[in-house]
Amino acid sequence: MANFQYQDIFGQVKLGYVIAESNRFDDWIRFMQKCLGLHLAEQTDQQLSFRIDDYQKRFIVQRGDAEDVTHIGFQVANQQVLEQILGRFDSREIEYAQGTHSEALQRGIQNFWYLKGPKGIQLELFIEAIKTDQPLNMLASGFYTADSGMGHIAITSRKPEKMIRFWQEFFDARLTDTIEQKINGVTLDVTFLRLNERHHSIAVAQTRGVHLDPIRTAIQHMNLQVLDLEDVTMAYQRCKDNGFPVAWEVGQHTNDREVSFYVPSPSGFEVELGWAPITIDETTWQPVKHTSISVWGHHPKPPTKVHKFIHEFAQFSRGMQSLRHDEYSPID
Ligand SMILES: [Fe+2]
Repeated sequence: MANFQYQDIFGQVKLGYVIAESNRFDDWIRFMQKCLGLHLAEQTDQQLSFRIDDYQKRFIVQRGDAEDVTHIGFQVANQQVLEQILGRFDSREIEYAQGTHSEALQRGIQNFWYLKGPKGIQLELFIEAIKTDQPLNMLASGFYTADSGMGHIAITSRKPEKMIRFWQEFFDARLTDTIEQKINGVTLDVTFLRLNERHHSIAVAQTRGVHLDPIRTAIQHMNLQVLDLEDVTMAYQRCKDNGFPVAWEVGQHTNDREVSFYVPSPSGFEVELGWAPITIDETTWQPVKHTSISVWGHHPKPPTKVHKFIHEFAQFSRGMQSLRHDEYSPID
């Protein structure tokens, strides 16, 4: 890569799909289709896939024991952007490989490249998604993707500086804002990174001082953006009716102004279903620091592991256990 030329790729990468590994297929169908209102597109013994727009697959559950998100797909605008990212990996001697044709079809895409990303999540890069003109059959009125991509991912990290640098160095992520929340004398810092017009595609959460990670799963939550406020409120009620207790009640975030609730998925990580987050105007935006996560609402009910962690942090306990395990980072 002697003649590799650096080009800014901001705005040309967006979240494309998420893959979780689970054995709880029946629960996942109830959760995604009956509660959150997605379109169930495929159901075999080995794989479920769900649609939210004209992409053939957006959320995939593959048979396996992890009960976690294992792969995250990012869509890049064109071959140049792909080569730019791969060139950066080459220059940092980060290993990557090309997926097979059948693996691509499993994901509803044409072709992809992958690497072991932060926290060991497999990151996958693709250009073309396979689309379908089959009408959507789902309880939600619709989901917003378009130039913003598919919602966002929030990750707790014990190596937050490296994780943030990874997204900045290889994907030209920009800092949108930060939230500092003091709870029981402990400060939680969340850094919100954008790859495009979406307020954030990646949020990185850390505890100030010694970085602990109380979350079993690789991500803390995945966000999906619905088109109508009623999609949020009715999904909230359906979660309660179908035995999926909400973790954080409906509320509005200080920074992206999204009205949302959080519910633990069958695999343990949470899904945030939200409406109307702001988009960023690059000509005027200045990063700011907020001192609370929500303007109103988002009350924990019943207490989740995350909530318990935050509130019982002073006693340490589970967070301390995370110190025994190293967290994978592709960069030093
Ligand atoms: Fe979120």
